[in-house]
Amino acid sequence: MQPILFTSGLTRNYETGTGGSLKVLKGIDLVVRRGEVVAIIGPSGVGKSTLLHIIGALDRPTAGTVEIDGQAIFEGDEHQLARYRNTEVGFIFQFHHLLQEFTALENVMMPALIAGVKRSEARKRAASLLRAVKLESRAGHRPGELSGGEQQRVAVARALMNEPKLLLADEPSGNLDRASAEELHRLLWNLSRKAGQTIIVVTHNMRLAQLADRIIRLEDGKIVEDKQNEK
Ligand SMILES: Nc1ncnc2c1ncn2[C@@H]1O[C@H](COP(=O)(O)OP(=O)(O)OP(=O)(O)O)[C@@H](O)[C@H]1O
Ligand SMILES: [Mg+2]
Repeated sequence: MQPILFTSGLTRNYETGTGGSLKVLKGIDLVVRRGEVVAIIGPSGVGKSTLLHIIGALDRPTAGTVEIDGQAIFEGDEHQLARYRNTEVGFIFQFHHLLQEFTALENVMMPALIAGVKRSEARKRAASLLRAVKLESRAGHRPGELSGGEQQRVAVARALMNEPKLLLADEPSGNLDRASAEELHRLLWNLSRKAGQTIIVVTHNMRLAQLADRIIRLEDGKIVEDKQNEK
């Protein structure tokens, strides 16, 4: 079966401002199969977020390719990239980035509305996703009226709104207390096992990493370890 994600020779350099160049990623070759849950771990500053942002087309590589379902994403124009970002990948960040002036339901609906889905349909699907993350009773709350863990669950529902091929999560529980983190991990776990969602999650949390099928360790800009989790 064709892999869902294929990266080849990904590098990312940043200009340092003093004429130098910081080489963050130094050739990342990665294959992820459909339905796989992959945890990416490694020390701070090693390039985990950079890698995730490139896979999600929030950033561009200095060199190398990213293919999703056989399509080289950076070969498309800006319009295709925007479509890819909005409909093929879902993002969950450490800080949820919910829109403060909108309710939980409206926040979840947003990606579908941007993609041109009818309002009534978007509302129906958003409500069912809020039910799935156990927040149906908070649909009308604004982010400021929700706990941190609840806000993060809204962000999960929003990330799933357009049924992304690939769910990308960057420290999704990094900002939560232990109980809320556990709840979020359970949620991601259920999602991946029941729905067969492909997930790449960057985390410092080894409890979350242990739930994955596979753990990849980045060090010095490279993949230094790639192992299947024992189940
Ligand atoms: N826009 C930028 N311009 C210059 N350097 C950057 C930029 N973004 C990130 N970097 C540098 O690239 C390196 C990798 O950053 P990245 O955010 O990918 O690390 P990370 O592995 O996610 O770390 P953490 O675990 O702390 O989140 C860091 O040294 C950072 O300082
Ligand atoms: Mg990071």
